[in-house]
Amino acid sequence: MTNMLSGNSLIESLEISDDALSEISSILALRRNFSMSVYKDKCMKRRIAIRMRSCRCIDAAAYCNLLRQNEQELDLLKKNLTIHVSQFFRNPSLFEKLQTDVFPYLFREVAQERLMFWSLGCAGGEEAYSLGIILREYFARELQRIPTEIRASDIDADILQVAERAEYNEDRLKDLPDPIRERYFVRNGSRLRLSDKIRNMVTFHQRDIMTAEMFEMCQLALCRNTLIYFTRPDQEKILRGITHILPAGGILVLGKSETLVGDVRGLFTTVCPVERIYRRL
Ligand SMILES: C[S@@+](CC[C@H](N)C(=O)[O-])C[C@H]1O[C@@H](n2cnc3c(N)ncnc32)[C@H](O)[C@@H]1O
Repeated sequence: MTNMLSGNSLIESLEISDDALSEISSILALRRNFSMSVYKDKCMKRRIAIRMRSCRCIDAAAYCNLLRQNEQELDLLKKNLTIHVSQFFRNPSLFEKLQTDVFPYLFREVAQERLMFWSLGCAGGEEAYSLGIILREYFARELQRIPTEIRASDIDADILQVAERAEYNEDRLKDLPDPIRERYFVRNGSRLRLSDKIRNMVTFHQRDIMTAEMFEMCQLALCRNTLIYFTRPDQEKILRGITHILPAGGILVLGKSETLVGDVRGLFTTVCPVERIYRRL
């Protein structure tokens, strides 16, 4: 297996030359009628490197070979190149459920001395900050009793910088109720800057979700709209990894179009099928 990555090197180590990029671009144009030309090369290279790493390809030549032979990978790459990042309170009904059912349950029945929440595949941080807003708005008393940490991770260092900056275009806030928007955002030109009160509640980490079993233990794991970019065996691997970092009673939330696959199904009970909320047995 000389063309596979065995270690944990992150995407920065995967070089994609302009020639390789144009080869990948022609494969996608020919086989999927998809044009990469409207996107920035740097951004495309970063996203291709993420797929290369997920497929354990050691260089762009190996990845081009894979693309030529594997229809599923062509679809996954296309999806990955068109990722639409995130939004505050994306799928508002989920955040309502977290506020009314899940957080009270975690504080009441799961927390011992502290709680830890992880947003895995956090993109620009909107999901993790949304958790922070709910905590600050509705759980101030509980927070005094039980220190609660929010961690967020992504493989993409550039996206993590955006997350740490915490300045957003209007469209990212479209599901936010007005009072929340007024309390926690200030306008900075055409963008809206999140208040430090919430920013300081979240720490960001560059981590590969494929190694989730090595993350710190948490009582709530959100892994939304990220699994879909992986093949079924890798989805199973990721879910097995997450299983390792959730104690009994811990909660896992997936995206609306995602579900538990493989052996891990036996390790969770479904709390809310509509919102894809599962409890670790
Ligand atoms: C569509 S965004 C999901 C954002 C957020 N969870 C949500 O639901 O709104 C998917 C994120 O997964 C990240 N990602 C892709 N492969 C990853 C990997 N191997 N490890 C960690 N993050 C990864 C991408 O960089 C991207 O930011």
